[in-house]
Amino acid sequence: MQQTVEEIIVPIFPRIGAKAPEFEAQTTHGQLKLSDYRGSWLVLFSHPADFTPVCTTEFIAFSEIAMELKKRNTDLLGLSIDSVYSHIAWVRNIEETFDVKIPFPVIADLDKRVASAYGMIMPGESKTETSRCVYVIDPDGIIRAMIYYPLTTGRNVQEIVRLIDALQTTDKHRVATPANWKPGEAVILPPPVTQEMAEERMENAGRDCAAWYFCKRTIGKN
Ligand code: BEZ
Repeated sequence: MQQTVEEIIVPIFPRIGAKAPEFEAQTTHGQLKLSDYRGSWLVLFSHPADFTPVCTTEFIAFSEIAMELKKRNTDLLGLSIDSVYSHIAWVRNIEETFDVKIPFPVIADLDKRVASAYGMIMPGESKTETSRCVYVIDPDGIIRAMIYYPLTTGRNVQEIVRLIDALQTTDKHRVATPANWKPGEAVILPPPVTQEMAEERMENAGRDCAAWYFCKRTIGKN
């Protein structure tokens, strides 16, 4: 079977720790650039298509966390391979049908330029729709986290709020966060990288260390 050009050329997609690809795009709030978000955290997320049920539940869920994110200096920006007219009609329909206002802009990525730069299209799943991708971009424009979900599974938006809390806590206190961590719970000290540091950690850390590589501390809520 002959391969298509897209299949032969191995695309290089963004990775955690890399600069997020710059873009300028038409959105439901007018023309926007990634650099407009410099100084704020950004949750850039794609959905497969307008006027589909799982995406509708996600848009309602994202609108419900928009204020929580704002308190964390974090903006939301949606995207799909649909026209701005389709986005406008869908957002209006969500308001009429579910009484929910969508407060964030949505990119109309008809030429797939942004979706291609970020690797939002998973050809094994669909060549014409973006999968459910989330990119957390920090105030310096660095990709700090990526989440990918398939077409058929709606995302858990509270996990996105938790992820922002964890990243901001890491930046502020130079710590890591354990499984299922929530603000207010103990955080993890990055493991020591020399034998001397390991011994010092065990001598000084007292009962907060279960082992030389496993030390926690409390920092209180952000
Ligand atoms: C949905 O949003 O309902 C949906 C979109 C694409 C494939 C399956 C479900």
